[in-house]
Amino acid sequence: MKILVINGPNINMLGIREPGIYGKQNFTDLLELINQTAQEEGLEIEQFQSNHEGALVDRIQAAYGVFDGIVINPAAYTHTSIAILDALKAVAIPAVEVHISDVDSRESFRQISYARMACVKTIKGQGLDGYRQAIIYLKENYSD
Ligand code: DQA
Repeated sequence: MKILVINGPNINMLGIREPGIYGKQNFTDLLELINQTAQEEGLEIEQFQSNHEGALVDRIQAAYGVFDGIVINPAAYTHTSIAILDALKAVAIPAVEVHISDVDSRESFRQISYARMACVKTIKGQGLDGYRQAIIYLKENYSD
C-alpha cells in the first residue's frame, strides 16, 4: 500500500511555533515518526510539505493513480480552501484529515473544515501521534 502524507503551511515550523499548542518536537521528528511507522507497518510512504495552496493542489492531483491513501494536515488551508477540498474529491483517494491540536475546541474559525468534507476520517488533538493513527487507519481499512 502506498500512502502520501501531506502537510500544509507552517507545519515545517513545528518545535518553534507555539509549542504550548503544537508541542516541542520539530518537523524532522515528525518526518521520522512517519517513516518509522511506514517501516513498522510495511507501507510505502512519501511525504510532502508546502506553504503554498496551489502546490498542495498540484501534489494531490499528481497522487491520482499512484497512491492508495492520503494523510493530510492542510493546516490553515483547512479552514479556507475549497481548492484543496475539490482536489481531494477529484482524485477520490481515501484521505484522513489530521490536526495536531484539537481544532474543535479552539477559535470558532478553526471549527470549519472544508477538507473534512472529502475525508473518510478526522484525527485531531492527538499531537504528532495522530499521523501514526491515520496511517494505521488507512492500512486497516483500505489495503487489499
Ligand atoms: C493545525 C490547526 C490549524 O488550525 C492551524 O492553522 C495549523 C495546524 C493543527 O495541526 O492543529 O496550522 O492544522
